Amino acid sequence: MKRTLLALGAFIGFGLAHDWELTAPTGLSFGKIKGYENWHVVATHYRTDKNELRYIIGNDKAVEAYKKGAKKFPEGAILVKIGYSLKKNPDFPKSVEPDVIQRVEYMIKDSKTFKDTAGWGFARFVYDAKKGEYKVFGKSAKDYAQCFACHRSVERKDFVFTDYVRRK
Ligand code: HEC
Repeated sequence: MKRTLLALGAFIGFGLAHDWELTAPTGLSFGKIKGYENWHVVATHYRTDKNELRYIIGNDKAVEAYKKGAKKFPEGAILVKIGYSLKKNPDFPKSVEPDVIQRVEYMIKDSKTFKDTAGWGFARFVYDAKKGEYKVFGKSAKDYAQCFACHRSVERKDFVFTDYVRRK
């Protein structure tokens, strides 16, 4: 019995750690990008002032649009950005590698829902390494106005900063 309870506790704990239910004030949940860890790498970025490495990944719809050189991303296209702190590679310290996840954020093209922001909806989940869990960024949709405000500067690229990186 004791063992069953322990197993149940571990199971519930595991479920909470995944946090797919977390939902940003924009109405977008973490669960909406479930499986993103297996999507395609679009590019990496390194933020010099924050010493942070970022991976930009996309779902099939987003990547197909990139490959076609489409001017706009289609409905349902999703781009995810994951930020990491860095550490030296223990086996080769001149090389640095991703260490702790800082946050996972995404933008999704859903023109019906996000009319005021050119069809793009935004969500950010901040990782608390001490607690080992994610937290929703922002208290209200107002906290997300900055996302579109900054992404606006790349309106000519359908509000997406990242270009698909060459690999051959
Ligand atoms: C001050 C400017 C700025 C703000 C504010 C901002 N971003 Fe970005 N975002 C960028 C830049 C620059 C990139 C390109 C990648 C990089 O350099 O990290 C980017 C990339 C992204 C990407 C990958 C697709 C792309 O456009 O390259 C997503 C997803 C994203 N941001 C989501 C968000 C969300 C969600 C918010 C608000 C909570 C937000 N951003 C706020 C500047 C900004």
